[in-house]
Amino acid sequence: MDFTLSSEHELVRQTAREFARDHLAPGVMERDEAARFPAEQVKMMGDLGFMGIMTPEAYGGAGMDALSYVIAMEEIARVDASAAVIMSVNNSLVIQIFLDWASDEQKAAYLPKLATGEWIGGFSLSEPQSGSDASNMRTYARKEGHEYVINGTKNWVTNGINSNLVILFCLTTKGIGYKGISAFIVEKGTPGFTTGEKEDKLGIRGSDTCELYFQDCRVPEANRIGQEGDGFRIAMHTLNGGRIGIAAQALGIAQAALDHSVSYAKERKQFGRTLAEFGAIQSKIARMATEVDASRLLVHRAAFLKDQHQTYIKEAAMAKLYASRTAMQAARECVQIHGGYGYMQEFGVERLMRDAKITQIYEGTSEIQELVIAREILKNS
Ligand code: CAA
Repeated sequence: MDFTLSSEHELVRQTAREFARDHLAPGVMERDEAARFPAEQVKMMGDLGFMGIMTPEAYGGAGMDALSYVIAMEEIARVDASAAVIMSVNNSLVIQIFLDWASDEQKAAYLPKLATGEWIGGFSLSEPQSGSDASNMRTYARKEGHEYVINGTKNWVTNGINSNLVILFCLTTKGIGYKGISAFIVEKGTPGFTTGEKEDKLGIRGSDTCELYFQDCRVPEANRIGQEGDGFRIAMHTLNGGRIGIAAQALGIAQAALDHSVSYAKERKQFGRTLAEFGAIQSKIARMATEVDASRLLVHRAAFLKDQHQTYIKEAAMAKLYASRTAMQAARECVQIHGGYGYMQEFGVERLMRDAKITQIYEGTSEIQELVIAREILKNS
């Protein structure tokens, strides 16, 4: 077993790190406070290949592997978790659906725009009454000739406002549970499709989240992905990969918390000694560093399995469960080490705590990850 990254992967890390330092770090707190979408930075991420990092070059992507994706995600989230989730949804929820399920025509029409960051995509599964219980949706697409007429409300859609298209999951047959769900490409500007106000969130405030409204919205049959009834399978399959991306986002936040803790502990003096000389602080740093390393191993293993086309449902859920808990714990300890300064917005470490929380919630809560892990273990033993 070789834990050394290849020179290509090291180059991805270095490129993402330099981009984050030079273009995401400046203004990150202002964007957080104003809840401002990093439009200019997303455009640059497109130019660097990060918005379509796993998309084949034939479709305008960078043609890299899932390991490259998680390495870039970690470095970007380490500085700006909002930019990271914008990148993650575009890559592992939207583009991945096109790669795995769309027709050649759909791929040719949309992938070159999405993979270069010219267009941004959103993924719309949840509804007000169906979060964890994802198949319990009500939005309904009625077939009329070669069109579907969609009515309903979706919520918590990342990139909802700034996206050019969403992958929409809705019922095409009522009363048969998840087998009645289908997936559609719905472009912004389609009559009957509107977005709600930008939600005011605790963290990842630079990314936008909103409700989507469909009122007699007509979508051509050609925009259905796969067959009628394939929708839930598409969503679940895709979320397995999405969870690796969110695990990498959590890892980046955790690493940032460790970085800030170490540098502050070495510089801050109390009782005539630096914080780093106190056993209580050393314990915190040791625990944080161990958990960050363990998270990285889980994230890289899940990405490796995906690259090898092996099954990774359980491993992706484990990576997300563990890395998101690590992010939350590390961010909390980082604020604790910073004491009163940590609680002040000016220092920037309270943002890590606010940003970390969502990684335990979206793309399946920690409780859902535990359910997925347990089901996989019990099924296979
Ligand atoms: N991978 C592949 N297939 C899966 C799967 C998985 N992880 N989980 C379920 N399935 C399949 C099952 O095999 C089954 O198909 P078959 O009958 O063909 O075998 C089908 O889906 C139904 O499965 P279940 O009976 O297990 O469904 P369930 O209703 O009991 O529970 C669940 C499923 C795991 C709880 C699921 O609803 C779930 O994952 N919920 C969480 C939803 C979620 O992650 N939402 C994220 C929203 S998007 C987001 O957050 C994006 C963002 O903003 C960043």
